[in-house]
Amino acid sequence: MRIVLVGPPGAGKGTQAAYLAENLSIPHISTGDLFRANISQGTDLGRQAKSYMDAGELVPDEVTIGMAKDRMERPDATGGFLLDGFPRNVSQAEALDAMLKSEGMTLDAVLDLEVPEDEVVKRIAGRRICRNDSSHVFHVTYSPPAQEGVCDVCGGDLYQRDDDSETTVRKRLEVYHTQTEPIIDYYRGQGLVVTISALGKVTEVTQRAMAALQ
Ligand code: AP5
Repeated sequence: MRIVLVGPPGAGKGTQAAYLAENLSIPHISTGDLFRANISQGTDLGRQAKSYMDAGELVPDEVTIGMAKDRMERPDATGGFLLDGFPRNVSQAEALDAMLKSEGMTLDAVLDLEVPEDEVVKRIAGRRICRNDSSHVFHVTYSPPAQEGVCDVCGGDLYQRDDDSETTVRKRLEVYHTQTEPIIDYYRGQGLVVTISALGKVTEVTQRAMAALQ
């Protein structure tokens, strides 16, 4: 399956993507995680992305589309993928369509996670991620690690993302409404959108998502 996951910052896209990708046996491709890996490795791409991410702005399409394409072309993604955080504006969605069309492929679904803004703010404020791998995600109240500040998966240090400050979160939400939400209508026009509530326990949301995708 080829699936796009969409929803506001903090909706639980990364959390759900980990479970869905495992259930569906497809790789989880997160452009945010790819940028953070580049930042921690000190690459040129990471240096280019960091200032935009810290400001809550989108990283320019010239950088993002090439990076996403390279990842989707890796062998593990030939049978499908779950995209998290890409596309994030209509021009990225058009680029993805063109990319898939050139390979004779199409998307199967766009899963839209709906969460009220006050819940999103609570989820982001308590989020902690692992320094070794930013796909290891915890929450100080909703899904705390067994030992405070230590990743249950690999023992790495947990920290708060630089772009999770209150001001940057406000900016990221504004960018989501103005630039990313329009892709929902774009994909609705293709009959691909399934919307589910992302409220409730993580396992309940996963069950809802799996049912919606079937
Ligand atoms: P990115 O990393 O994609 O961030 P985001 O979309 O803002 O989403 P988040 O990672 O903040 O949230 P999430 O929905 O994954 O929630 P999570 O599962 O962690 O992008 C960051 C930046 O990179 C962008 O601002 C931009 O600069 C750049 N970027 C990335 N892609 C780009 C692109 N395509 N184009 C241009 N720029 C791009 O959950 C949040 C918290 O809630 C966690 O603590 C979790 O434990 C908790 N939680 C999850 N589910 C539940 C639940 N059901 N109940 C209670 N708590 C829950």
